[in-house]
Amino acid sequence: MALKVGRGAFAPPFMVMDVISAANARQAALPPGGVRTIRMEVGQPGTGAPAGAVAAAQAALRSGDPLGYTEAFGRRSLRERIVAHYRDWYGIELPIERVAVTVGASGAFPLAFLAAFDPGDRVAMAAPFYPPYVNIITALGMTPVIMEAGPETRFQPSVAMLEALDPKPDGLIVASPCNPVGTMLHPDELAAIARWCDANGVRLISDEIYHGLHYDSAIASAAGFSANAVVVNSFSKYFSMTGWRIGWLILPEDLVRPVECLAQNMFISAPYISQVVAEAAFDCHAELQANIVRYRRSRDHLLRALPEAGFDRLSPAEGAFYIYADLAGRSNDSMAFCARMLAETGVAVTPGVDFDRTRGHRFLRFSYCGPEADMIEASERLKHWM
Ligand SMILES: Cc1ncc(COP(=O)(O)O)c(C=O)c1O
Repeated sequence: MALKVGRGAFAPPFMVMDVISAANARQAALPPGGVRTIRMEVGQPGTGAPAGAVAAAQAALRSGDPLGYTEAFGRRSLRERIVAHYRDWYGIELPIERVAVTVGASGAFPLAFLAAFDPGDRVAMAAPFYPPYVNIITALGMTPVIMEAGPETRFQPSVAMLEALDPKPDGLIVASPCNPVGTMLHPDELAAIARWCDANGVRLISDEIYHGLHYDSAIASAAGFSANAVVVNSFSKYFSMTGWRIGWLILPEDLVRPVECLAQNMFISAPYISQVVAEAAFDCHAELQANIVRYRRSRDHLLRALPEAGFDRLSPAEGAFYIYADLAGRSNDSMAFCARMLAETGVAVTPGVDFDRTRGHRFLRFSYCGPEADMIEASERLKHWM
């Protein structure tokens, strides 16, 4: 007898994983003297955790400390550092009770969504989007409401787009700088969206995971604009600690206890050692800033060089480590285009289909978090390919 399989099992795949597998396979099959694969499909820093953070992990391992569970919201000393981070970076004073340490931003999403919404609730976001937003929302029985955004709003949502929604959604997810486009909601735009959400009873979820990786304009946190907003952040990107699986939430007062109960039941706590490493990472800004200087140079180089390789419709990338390219006139099948690019140039990039189910077939995403020399070589290969 065939047994029932739950709705959550039908979350669509994350296509970039298929591109990563193809790039791995190509590299593994490379003949001696063959053209090596350049990885522009990955969304994680090539660097590891900063040296001071690694030293803290080594000391914790040697200390004989059992490294057991912590409180569900994390070690108090780490939560205090997060409070200080909001004071230093944004001039915001937060009570420590509103800070929850999570298993990455990925672990924060189900906690935030389950605490803020019910099955059947409608949660809006702009397309293109980070695919797990839609996939997690759907797996939890909620309904994603997609607002197609284009170059006019730098692919970000706007108050006008929200006004046009009928009925109004229950929630809104924003991300700035965003994945896959690399554009930002500037402080006045984020403030206007937060005001609109408060005025319309819409719960704002702000994914701020790429804060720190912004190159042109100032950043602001939604926590500074609305006491009702949920802020998601992580040590994965600016702090260069993807594999340590550690992030945090800034919660509105009314969601503190619900999220705490959910976190106790779903995760018990984030890994102890990762909490130690994260705390030490706050003392490593000099090393982390050097990464940013490198990202900025790679971005500047690619924004100049990619048009010479025929990619002349690029997103105005202001942050994160992504550039989104419109293939208009070159291809209407980004999956096939990326496969051919990988086979013929050895440059791996991500087709837009993951990020936008209606228009993604004519976009692709370049990620420039790899070595600077690779970014230069990739643009040369693409120029010759063209
Ligand atoms: C926009 C965005 N949010 C969240 C995540 C998940 O991050 P974490 O490693 O903290 O789970 C990613 C990872 O790429 C991302 O791009």
